[in-house]
Amino acid sequence: MSHNKEKETPFWKSDFPIKQEESTHVSRREFAKFLCLLSGSLAVGNGMIAAKSLLFSKDKKYQEHLICSTSEIPIGEMKSFVINDNHKVPYILIHLGEDKWRCFEQKCTHLSCAVLYKHEINKIVCPCHKGFFDPETGEVLQGPPPRPLPQLSVVIRDGNVYVTEKEKK
Ligand code: FES
Repeated sequence: MSHNKEKETPFWKSDFPIKQEESTHVSRREFAKFLCLLSGSLAVGNGMIAAKSLLFSKDKKYQEHLICSTSEIPIGEMKSFVINDNHKVPYILIHLGEDKWRCFEQKCTHLSCAVLYKHEINKIVCPCHKGFFDPETGEVLQGPPPRPLPQLSVVIRDGNVYVTEKEKK
């Protein structure tokens, strides 16, 4: 009888003599290994992405740009400028008072008209639809603009005015 069974066993089974029970056990172990490798790889990948984004934002955060000397803009005046020839995003630098400088994007947050600082009324004005902004903070005071003007930090050093991208919150 057993001789018959041996005869019925396909030839390939003799080449791979693994019992069904053992093969399941090995498969579970391999699957666990695979999961460990996968989760380890994901952890390393996420760590690398986080490190890269931290480094990148750090570079960007502290990049300074020399705009002019402090004597170039009297109190109450402003200067328009662009950074790295990027004319899509112009800025205004305003000399508000003794040691008081502000820098904002010049594009109105309503429909992107160019805003100007008016010393007589101490406001940043958008002439297109009578939008008014606070020159200290860039907040909207009046009119249709939906958001404050984006602001850059100003640093005065050795008689020169530098702007830096504002630290992200
Ligand atoms: Fe400035 Fe409309 S574009 S108020």
